[in-house]
Amino acid sequence: MDGSTRRTLLKVIVLGDSGVGKTSMMNQYVHKKFSPHYKSTIGADFVTKELQIDDKQVTLQIWDTAGQERFQSLGAAFYRGAECCVLVYDVNVLRSFETLNTWRQEFLKQADPADPDNFPFILLGNKIDLDGGNSRVVSERQAKEWCDSRGNIAYFETSAKEGYNVDEAFLCVARTAL
Ligand code: GTP
Repeated sequence: MDGSTRRTLLKVIVLGDSGVGKTSMMNQYVHKKFSPHYKSTIGADFVTKELQIDDKQVTLQIWDTAGQERFQSLGAAFYRGAECCVLVYDVNVLRSFETLNTWRQEFLKQADPADPDNFPFILLGNKIDLDGGNSRVVSERQAKEWCDSRGNIAYFETSAKEGYNVDEAFLCVARTAL
């Protein structure tokens, strides 16, 4: 066996308000499971997923964080070394969209990347399944404008419940982080 089986480890941080579906998204992505019960995350925890991207073996180490205020700002040591930051909001909750900038700024402050203007973020607008899309308050256009005005941020509309766009979003995360 030669050295070509070596894996690249990519650290990814998932941030966003409490209840937007961060844990559910990761459960759907890694375990293909969804639970309607809400159990808020305490502190932070990670899952891993192995992927092959072109000829590269990649391990995504995805950190789920608590959205609750009392757990915010997990500290620089936690954010440092991340290759990508996934921001999640709920398309049915305006406040979760309005706080995105705070999450982004907090991440950049703590992670302190070498090139903050070009640090890769991905935005996920989750829970698009609710009420057949009739309860949404943030449009796709608004979300894309938010992304475009902050550089080249990719945007996905997702449903952690139905598994819609979840694999696609994390594949983009892996490609962006690589
Ligand atoms: P914190 O741990 O507090 O930061 O919350 P979180 O962002 O991890 O949210 P979580 O994944 O715990 O989901 C909160 C609630 O929303 C749960 O009841 C989930 O079942 C529900 N939920 C998550 N994603 C979806 C989705 O895509 N569609 C629907 N309908 N419900 C969802």
